Amino acid sequence: MTDTTTDPIYVTEALIAEDIDAYLDQHQHKTMLRFITCGSVDDGKSTLIGRLLYDSKMIFEDQLAALESDSKKVGTQGQEIDFALLVDGLAAEREQGITIDVAYRFFNTEKRKFIVADCPGHEQYTRNMVTGASTADLAVILIDARKGVLVQTRRHSYLCHLIGIRNIVLAVNKMDLVDYDQSVFDSIVKDYTDFARSIGINTFTALPISGFKGDNITTRSANTPWYSGPTLIDHLETVEVLSALDAEKPFRMPVQWVNRPNLDFRGFSGLIATGSVKPGDDIRVLPSGKTSKVTRVVTLDGDLDQAVAGQSVTLCLADEVDCSRGDVISLADNPPQAADQFEATVVWLNDEAMVPGRAYWLKLATQTVSATVQSPKYVVNVNTMEHLAAKTLELNAIGVAELATDKSVVFEAYTDGRTLGGFVLVDKITNATVAAGMLNFSLRRAQNVHWQALDISREAHAASKNQRPRVLWFTGLSGSGKSTIANLVEKKLHALGKHTFLLDGDNVRHGLNKDLGFTEADRIENIRRVGEVARLMTDAGLIVLTAFISPFRAERDMVRSLMADGEFVEVFVDTPLEVAESRDVKGLYKKARSGQLKNFTGIDSPYEAPEDPDFRVNTTTESPEDAAERIVNAMLAG
Ligand code: ADX
Repeated sequence: MTDTTTDPIYVTEALIAEDIDAYLDQHQHKTMLRFITCGSVDDGKSTLIGRLLYDSKMIFEDQLAALESDSKKVGTQGQEIDFALLVDGLAAEREQGITIDVAYRFFNTEKRKFIVADCPGHEQYTRNMVTGASTADLAVILIDARKGVLVQTRRHSYLCHLIGIRNIVLAVNKMDLVDYDQSVFDSIVKDYTDFARSIGINTFTALPISGFKGDNITTRSANTPWYSGPTLIDHLETVEVLSALDAEKPFRMPVQWVNRPNLDFRGFSGLIATGSVKPGDDIRVLPSGKTSKVTRVVTLDGDLDQAVAGQSVTLCLADEVDCSRGDVISLADNPPQAADQFEATVVWLNDEAMVPGRAYWLKLATQTVSATVQSPKYVVNVNTMEHLAAKTLELNAIGVAELATDKSVVFEAYTDGRTLGGFVLVDKITNATVAAGMLNFSLRRAQNVHWQALDISREAHAASKNQRPRVLWFTGLSGSGKSTIANLVEKKLHALGKHTFLLDGDNVRHGLNKDLGFTEADRIENIRRVGEVARLMTDAGLIVLTAFISPFRAERDMVRSLMADGEFVEVFVDTPLEVAESRDVKGLYKKARSGQLKNFTGIDSPYEAPEDPDFRVNTTTESPEDAAERIVNAMLAG
């Protein structure tokens, strides 16, 4: 028999029936707990989720919206559904792989609203679990009482801890199948405690449950008289949510946009990540370090005396300080740091492995910068927690690596705050999110290397040579004619009194880059160094010509981004592979075809043609001389 005076569902229904306004008011002020369930269908995950939805009668948000619009429907709300059917449905969805992605399910009790992220548990779905865990306050780690702590229990716990979930619930399920035996429960808890400590989980809440029978889910079970802790729902309803703790931390607001509806008003809008702010507070804008005072805290519902973590606000300041999207506002006396080199833990989410040295977009809070990741120091075997050597990060791999950004990033260690410590990496060409990461700390060397201001500027260098510095970047297959044409162009420019320098692949690889081969990573490093050298030479006022295969679009784009607008001129020497191969000036194609030379561009290593080059030279229809003439004339005109 259900006790209708204390059972949360009956109390809720009674309240709805009596006073819809009171109910809606209570509902609106409920806190929200986001949690993730970890385990496989075999551990009873679908049954448990089904039980939670069933026992809370699935009062969905949309049903609530319907309620708000038509209070007469009150009597009909709260769907009656069959528990077994519901669980079957959830399990079938999983088995058929419909929801390989994270499935978010909503339910609520009279005390709280819940969003549960249901993620597939296999190792190949690590990225899905990381996605589900990234916004969760709590993780329910399900264990089958008959099986105890398994490899997947360890993997799931490690991932949840890594992502920063500090509330772990160990739900020892299927207690009915071990006769509610306390010794089984105790021994599983002991095993888990030993493991949890080894990865830094110091506290967790263990519960003996049966999702199928309903023991200790909403009501304390008579079958486990030896258990005196809370029921699962009790615990979920009362556990402290992260956002409550966020308000206690130092004030941080990443600026989303500058709000200027008219000339009299200028405010900085964003979501407060941590801490609180009020008019009169002295603030600091990072990374510039400029200070000012808050004059108003504005919201759509009017001005506030104080705003806290989780609220979206617009701050008006006493001074006209420079502040734009990506900046972070903090209190003046407690700012976060900014740095451009870090150690980070990176979870690789893409089918294509990470390319060490390649530039990706790094997005952290509202900041977007260009970042390169080094080969990992190690990767973690998520089943054994061993550290293994690795050259790159494959799909689902978790590694610790150094990364460098092209601009300072305002950050905190991930353990201090998810908002300013967590980031994603985005491929610059495909725009796919390829990794999620956590900043561990900044590297000290980043803080100790400063830019030296130089008195003779690049403008002064260019002016004394009476020319506009530029990089003419020739790209194309080996044997396409890059060096030949670049050489002709340089001769013509030189004859016109221009100050030039030609960097040629074969020559540079004898000196500066003699330590590099032709793997993807080495080619990227080759182009990175050449790009930096070319950039320095343009600073010195020169017109630089480079002749490198430079097969990857991403690195050519990276070099373009090093140069001022219009100073990077891409020349695509578009000779078809068959033609370059038939010329085979150096005999290398023959070697590559016979297998003596590995990673040869066009044969067993890719070439990504420019999509929109400044010049395209088809050497089958245009002579090198004509092409050179055309390029020089255009340069002189431009
Ligand atoms: S890049 O790909 O890193 O830009 P780069 O232009 O420096 O290449 O060097 C290409 C030259 O190295 C070729 O013209 C060829 O003479 C020589 N070479 C030797 N091995 C290879 C290889 N595996 N692939 C391409 N070029 C090679």
